[in-house]
Amino acid sequence: MFNTKNISPDNLSFFTAVCLSVPVGIAFYIISFKWIDALIALVIVFILSFFLIRFVLNKFIYRKIKVIYKYIYQTKANKREEIYQKYILPKKSIEEVNSDVEKWAEQQAAVIDDLKNNERYRREFLQNLAHEIKTPIFAIQGYIDSLLDGALENPSLTKKFLENASRNVGRMVELVRDLDEITKLESGEQLLHKKKFIIQEIIREVFETLSRKAGEKNIHCSIKKGCEQPVEVFADKEKIVRVLINLVSNAIKYGKNDGHVTAGVYNTDEQHVLIEISDDGIGIAEQHLSRIFERFYRTDTGRSRNTGGTGLGLAICKHIIEAHGKSIHVRSKEDVGTTIGFTLDKG
Ligand SMILES: Nc1ncnc2c1ncn2[C@@H]1O[C@H](COP(=O)(O)OP(=O)(O)O)[C@@H](O)[C@H]1O
Ligand SMILES: [Mg+2]
Repeated sequence: MFNTKNISPDNLSFFTAVCLSVPVGIAFYIISFKWIDALIALVIVFILSFFLIRFVLNKFIYRKIKVIYKYIYQTKANKREEIYQKYILPKKSIEEVNSDVEKWAEQQAAVIDDLKNNERYRREFLQNLAHEIKTPIFAIQGYIDSLLDGALENPSLTKKFLENASRNVGRMVELVRDLDEITKLESGEQLLHKKKFIIQEIIREVFETLSRKAGEKNIHCSIKKGCEQPVEVFADKEKIVRVLINLVSNAIKYGKNDGHVTAGVYNTDEQHVLIEISDDGIGIAEQHLSRIFERFYRTDTGRSRNTGGTGLGLAICKHIIEAHGKSIHVRSKEDVGTTIGFTLDKG
């Protein structure tokens, strides 16, 4: 008769009115044997019941659905919502409304999943943070307690303990600075100030800045042969300096004594430049490769922690490069060396 999947209040009222009026008409005919009376009764019952049912459906059911819709779509712009309520919704069948609501429920489930993930991330972050802060703070406490307990009498011990305490304070300062930077990057608070500059110039500056650290391990830092030709990039210079400092200091930190750190600059295509920092140090085992860009992740907690890093350096690099719409990647082999590369736009 009509598509039951697409019943509107009008269809439903019509169908019910027919169901009511036909038996009434037949009953009238059986009682009075006057077909004209039967027909009049049928028409009156049909008209009355049609409008009554339609009124009830519209008033009580459709309006209720509309209210539910309003709540579901409450985040929509008001103007659009009004148009939707006025013109689109009345044409929707219950089935369509049903599928809309199911879609909405799926969206809500995804939102809840997101919130749960955020919550887990927040918890892990706080756990890691507490852990990172605990080590230096307990060390500082230990040195101060020892001094108060009598070590102060001994000038050489006093100096040693104060130096140790100061080193641990330095570690906390570094941690707080990195945390500040990563939270700013994550909240999107920091905008990029892009400009054109020669990438080799800042690589040399970074080598210069870290020359004392490199010197301590007799590591030689250089730009790879064939990559000296100046290449102009378009990026946030300060942030790229930060990335290079993190990568080169890792290369030195996890590099071997008398080793080499090299920087490669390659034109990958018309628009992009690839920058790679390589070392011939301890390398990273296969199972850690996919995780080293995570916050606080270290391959060998004991060894890396002794070298004093915060575990946030690579996470900061990843944020900065991704904020530029580019990617950062790692290649490494244990005891052979590590190469970390990232792309930038050409200037
Ligand atoms: N050049 C490298 N060679 C070997 N391991 C590296 C290198 N760079 C990073 N790693 C590993 O990745 C981990 C994360 O690096 P990063 O985020 O900079 O933290 P960290 O503060 O420990 O330097 C390091 O702890 C180290 O285990
Ligand atoms: Mg580091």
